[in-house]
Amino acid sequence: MSDREFFKSFAGLVGALVALTVILFVLAQMVGGKNKHEAVADAKAVAERIKPVGEVNIGAIEATRVASSNAVMDAIIPSANAAGADKGKATYDTTCMACHTAGVAGAPKFGDKAAWSARIAQGNDTLYGHALKGFQGKAGMMPPKGGNMSLKDEDVKAAVDYMVSHAK
Ligand code: HEC
Repeated sequence: MSDREFFKSFAGLVGALVALTVILFVLAQMVGGKNKHEAVADAKAVAERIKPVGEVNIGAIEATRVASSNAVMDAIIPSANAAGADKGKATYDTTCMACHTAGVAGAPKFGDKAAWSARIAQGNDTLYGHALKGFQGKAGMMPPKGGNMSLKDEDVKAAVDYMVSHAK
């Protein structure tokens, strides 16, 4: 074989190999190749499959806790949801009694007519106002709504009525 013939067939062989490489490359792309978009979607799907069973969700826990504690309170103190005069007693029993039963910090005692007569003489509106907004008197400090700001105004008023009616 002459050099010339050799180069001819060698060049042909190299050309064939290059063509084969290109064909294999294209084939490989067709079979296994994925575009970027598919790859991202796959990663998401994998993350979804291997994510932990539970998830920490502070907001949801807090909401559940508040809801359930209200439900518990409702179960413990059903009278707190009862209408009318019971509301006054219920509110007194849950909040006001803390100070007014024993006369803590100068609070006029429940049922103590002497302690209440001058206060009752001021009239209901003044008593309501002092119970709702708080009141610094000579004897001490009555906090707004007895310190329980979640109470409804009407419940605080009912509690005042309840206390007043037992001190007349
Ligand atoms: C932290 C203690 C405390 C709690 C709880 C509390 N009080 Fe009082 N309350 C006082 C004190 C002390 C006074 C007396 C203030 C004074 O005359 O110097 C008072 C006075 C009052 C008076 C008389 C106000 C006046 O003008 O003479 C009313 C009415 C009253 N409280 C209603 C309530 C009601 C209703 C609740 C519950 C929702 C409540 N209090 C809870 C401490 C408390």
